[in-house]
Amino acid sequence: MKLLEIQSSVRLEKSISRALSHEFIEALQNSHPDFHHQQQDVGTNPPAHPTELWTTANYLPPESRTLEMATILTESDRLIAELLWADRLVLGVPMYNFSVPSTLKAYLDNIVRVNRTFTFDPQTHTFQGLATGKKAIAIVPSAGNFVVGTPLGEMNFCDPYLRSILGFIGIEEVEIVPIPNQFMDEEIRQQEVATARLNLMNLAASW
Ligand SMILES: Cc1cc2nc3c(=O)[nH]c(=O)nc-3n(C[C@H](O)[C@H](O)[C@H](O)COP(=O)(O)O)c2cc1C
Repeated sequence: MKLLEIQSSVRLEKSISRALSHEFIEALQNSHPDFHHQQQDVGTNPPAHPTELWTTANYLPPESRTLEMATILTESDRLIAELLWADRLVLGVPMYNFSVPSTLKAYLDNIVRVNRTFTFDPQTHTFQGLATGKKAIAIVPSAGNFVVGTPLGEMNFCDPYLRSILGFIGIEEVEIVPIPNQFMDEEIRQQEVATARLNLMNLAASW
């Protein structure tokens, strides 16, 4: 198993997405003797946003790029190589203003690149993901309850976005483990954590 862990909470010790991701990864490590693990902490160390030069460079074939263009794509190239290396992704994705943290969006802007993680066929106007053969789990805590299917679930732009963007680059198997109600009474909060932990341990046994 080659696992890429992507964390996007700005919190460290207090982060529930980080804590449960680590429990899940530990469970996987214990059951997979051939276990390799890379970490990408975009919450504390976000990648640079794309710029005009970056965008121009991205749409040119590598042999036509200037040195400056090649240099500006270095970070994105490194992130893509790491993503393509992995066969499993574990994402810690706290809900921030009903969507994913902006740092994770910056990461996605760096790794969703034509001819690297997807292709576009101008004849048929179709897209094809290139980051195939992977599964992903996203652990999504939130202060309130915005779980899809509940009364406020339509405000949840994390789950549909993560499924769409990961599916677009070829990662179709996406499990979302929500941890709602994290700003509620301690008893309710802990109950949600226990439910998510149980879900994760069940997933770890078959993932
Ligand atoms: C900038 C910011 C925006 C947030 N927006 C929402 C939100 O839209 N809905 C919600 O339920 N919780 C929101 N929260 C609360 C977090 O989702 C919640 O604290 C979660 O537990 C954070 O994940 P972590 O424990 O891994 O750090 C927000 C927190 C921050 C810092």
